[in-house]
Amino acid sequence: MSTETTSIMSSATMMVFMDKTKAHDDNVSEQVRLEDQHETVVHAMGGKALYAPINLTKPGLRILDSACANGRWIKDLIAASQVKHEYVGTDVVESLYPSPPPEGVHFLNQSIKEPFPEAWNATFDLVHQRLVMAAAGPERTPTYVVQNLANLLKEGGWLQMVEVATTPLPQNPVSQNQYIDMLDTLYANLYAGTKYKKSNLWSTLPEEMKAAGLKNVEKREVIVSYGAAVADPYIRERSLRTAVAGVPNFLSVLRKMPRDIWKSEWDDLESRLYTDLKEKGGYTKYIVTWGQK
Ligand SMILES: C[S@@+](CC[C@H](N)C(=O)[O-])C[C@H]1O[C@@H](n2cnc3c(N)ncnc32)[C@H](O)[C@@H]1O
Repeated sequence: MSTETTSIMSSATMMVFMDKTKAHDDNVSEQVRLEDQHETVVHAMGGKALYAPINLTKPGLRILDSACANGRWIKDLIAASQVKHEYVGTDVVESLYPSPPPEGVHFLNQSIKEPFPEAWNATFDLVHQRLVMAAAGPERTPTYVVQNLANLLKEGGWLQMVEVATTPLPQNPVSQNQYIDMLDTLYANLYAGTKYKKSNLWSTLPEEMKAAGLKNVEKREVIVSYGAAVADPYIRERSLRTAVAGVPNFLSVLRKMPRDIWKSEWDDLESRLYTDLKEKGGYTKYIVTWGQK
């Protein structure tokens, strides 16, 4: 298959995920999944959605959440801030934006695969992007996406990116590691035809940030717990829901890919994962990377 054919196919298959959530129930269950995912991840991050050491008490900062979905990350930042900032949320699925938007927030359509408006260059104090790098490939590489985001920063501004590591963890039940392997297969195939086809694509983000001219680059690994592994009952329930809710959508994307990558263990993954996480719990490693212009 030519690189061009692979590229068109991958874009189309990524759209399957997004179209499915809209067509299924007008994004109602996707909104719940996004809320649950946010709360589960922030709980694992020690209640902090932001590790980049920016001073949020200084009023009037310009803050972007790229691929913001329903804007939940922005809403949390507003709730945690004593002072007013200007917020921008961008995504490619307009139907996820809150309507009306919270005061001081603008939602705009912008793909991570395209250059941002030139007028935005060097205007942001903080740029955040979480769980979207898979959507860039293979037309765009992590190098492109990181440079695109870094261009938006003022001198001294911070970029923070959060992605999932596709490393199996020894303490996991079999189904959870099969889920992680499924994500790895998906990511590797979305980047097929590029040099970014190995596991753990996002482990290169610190190097990408440095290459994009950022300094003070740091990376922290965060273990996110699901189901029975979570002590707090509120987060336990939400973590279980979000872990399982994405499975049919990811599998629908994988089904559109060449049949020889399909693994029979994925046929009943959703139900096995639900039972295992509910009874035994499970873990996924996230990687938080941040750097300064
Ligand atoms: C897994 S969700 C993460 C949402 C949000 N960042 C969060 O952490 O809750 C991925 C998001 O990326 C968006 N997305 C997919 N392809 C995109 C693209 N090419 N450019 C910008 N956003 C994209 C989807 O619409 C979705 O909102």
